[in-house]
Amino acid sequence: MNLLHARIPAGTADTPDMVAARVAFLGSGVYAPLADELARHATEGLIVDAGAGTGYYLARVLDAAPSAHGLALDVSAVALRRAARAHERLGAAVWNLWEPWPVASASASLVLNVFAPRNGPEFHRVLRPGGKLVVAVPNPGHLAELRDLIVSVDERKEERLDATLAEYVTLKSRTELTRRVTLSPEQIRQVVGMGPSAHHLHKDGRAGQLDAITEPVEVTTSFTVSAYRR
Ligand SMILES: C[S@@+](CC[C@H](N)C(=O)[O-])C[C@H]1O[C@@H](n2cnc3c(N)ncnc32)[C@H](O)[C@@H]1O
Repeated sequence: MNLLHARIPAGTADTPDMVAARVAFLGSGVYAPLADELARHATEGLIVDAGAGTGYYLARVLDAAPSAHGLALDVSAVALRRAARAHERLGAAVWNLWEPWPVASASASLVLNVFAPRNGPEFHRVLRPGGKLVVAVPNPGHLAELRDLIVSVDERKEERLDATLAEYVTLKSRTELTRRVTLSPEQIRQVVGMGPSAHHLHKDGRAGQLDAITEPVEVTTSFTVSAYRR
């Protein structure tokens, strides 16, 4: 379903190449520990994933809540086509998260937000009283070994996260997930390709740096998952 009526800036939505890289990379299970952590917060009722991408995380959370229903919102129609097929209890709507969402007030028991834009007033409006917001962000050390290839993480993201959301929800728990994993050259190309960095590498004429990787590389993955109550 494409409900999008607002114009959004070019370059906001993931492209088909980025989506293909994301499907392949997430499918290889490297971020499964993050999916497991999100699934610990599963609730019955309506679960909205704001910026759901291909629906990978929402599908894992729905697996943990047998009678819940999921709604994936994302501005990328290409990603959402994948999301719509990711789980039988998952619906998907192409939507700009900065517009009021196509979701009734106080209807969601859980809102997920994984590496995507955060609209505090809409989190607050759609969550039922007592409902939960779960936000995942990458930490400064995330994929630090690939820093030359990947646009860097804002070091003060957590502080900004709390400041943005304090007015709308109350922080209840925060979990840091840090692991060392070995990525194949193919997985490195996928993890670079699923973000905006690949585009920058091509623009700067540095795409050859990626091709030069022919051996597995050990990297750090590091995320923070914050759970808030409405
Ligand atoms: C880094 S990806 C994360 C996707 C998914 N949560 C995941 O982790 O696989 C960011 C997502 O936010 C979406 N996005 C960016 N700006 C958006 C906006 N204004 N409204 C809706 N979605 C947006 C992109 O299309 C993309 O799917």
